[in-house]
Amino acid sequence: MQRIGIGLIGSGFMGRSHAIAFRAVSGIFSDISATPVLEILADIDAPAAERAAGALGFARSTADWHALIADPAVHLVDITTPNRLHKPMALAAIAAGKHVYCEKPLAPTAADAHEMADAAEAAGVQTFVGFSYLKNPMIAFAHEVIDSGEIGEVVSFRGLHAEDYMADPTQPWTWRMDPAGGHGAIADIGSHILSIARYLCGDIVEVSGQIATVVPERRTAGGETTQVLVDDQARALLRFASGATGSVEASWVATGRKMTIAFEVTGTKGTLAFDQERMNEVQLYVAGQRRGREGFKTILSGPAHPHYAPFCPAPGHHLGFNDMKTIEVRAILASLSGGLAFQPDFREAARIQATVDAIVASARERRWVSL
Ligand SMILES: NC(=O)c1ccc[n+]([C@@H]2O[C@H](COP(=O)([O-])OP(=O)(O)OC[C@H]3O[C@@H](n4cnc5c(N)ncnc54)[C@H](O)[C@@H]3O)[C@@H](O)[C@H]2O)c1
Repeated sequence: MQRIGIGLIGSGFMGRSHAIAFRAVSGIFSDISATPVLEILADIDAPAAERAAGALGFARSTADWHALIADPAVHLVDITTPNRLHKPMALAAIAAGKHVYCEKPLAPTAADAHEMADAAEAAGVQTFVGFSYLKNPMIAFAHEVIDSGEIGEVVSFRGLHAEDYMADPTQPWTWRMDPAGGHGAIADIGSHILSIARYLCGDIVEVSGQIATVVPERRTAGGETTQVLVDDQARALLRFASGATGSVEASWVATGRKMTIAFEVTGTKGTLAFDQERMNEVQLYVAGQRRGREGFKTILSGPAHPHYAPFCPAPGHHLGFNDMKTIEVRAILASLSGGLAFQPDFREAARIQATVDAIVASARERRWVSL
């Protein structure tokens, strides 16, 4: 069994989720010939790093991410820090010859993201980006249905990622609003729905965007008022290389919405619909049903769908958010031990970022932008 030394940077929301997945993966999946070894956890907050390392099962902790990258026991550097730190951390890891697992969005701009992909390809290291929702068995199932031609030729994609974590105007300014880290809602969550659009329907070649900042000022942690320079909500019309057309929306001020990653893919023979708030089901309509009995069928996740069975032998018992990360980590370990190459890698994440950048440019310049 190949042992992969893990160095995790960041111990917040995603740091914990990654650690939970690394701890779970070998017990759930028996089809991988690599096992993760939790070597070292880095966080800028040294006591937090020590606490998290102890709670999550890492052997050591540090406040210095450079030391983590230099550590000879670390083979995979896992970056779960705010967006503006992804690039310097990833480039340093690549320069040290380490494989890199990085959270989305990969970088503040597509140019940065392509530079990171170039560096990784030149160094011959593998890269993995945490677009978690792509690993939901029901999204893999959606891909299978579309690929098989069951809903015919895809003519339309309608996608939405809506949450309300910034809807309250008294909610303070955070690193998510730091323009040094890139754009706002369209990058933070819009990148997820764009990753799904690309996975299911292929390359996006043209966009027409609209962006808006709904809460123009917010308080910082220090109590000062600062201007919000990024978008709170965004939408775009899309044109795919296949000829299909579509739209996406992203909002972090969508009052009442907690985790709506919803989409509808319409084909010439059927339609498939999904909403992450009900992440264990897909709605499928296939044309040609008996008159008076036509309708969408609800398909619940189960062992017949990719990667569900190792969690649970019974259908309809439901997987959760951290299970998608465990499936993601399984795919990383498989890729590192010579199996199927992982997607999305840095190059695909750079293409997603290019779509985000194009939507913002289109909105600012009030014109269609080609990719
Ligand atoms: N895939 C998903 O579903 C998903 C969900 C949430 C967040 N994310 C992404 O994950 C990343 C982190 O988001 P989060 O919600 O976990 O943020 P968070 O604020 O909860 O955690 C960030 C962590 O990074 C640490 N950190 C900051 N600067 C550091 C430094 N210089 N050195 C070491 N540690 C440092 C912080 O102390 C904190 O522990 C972001 O890129 C975000 O977009 C992805």
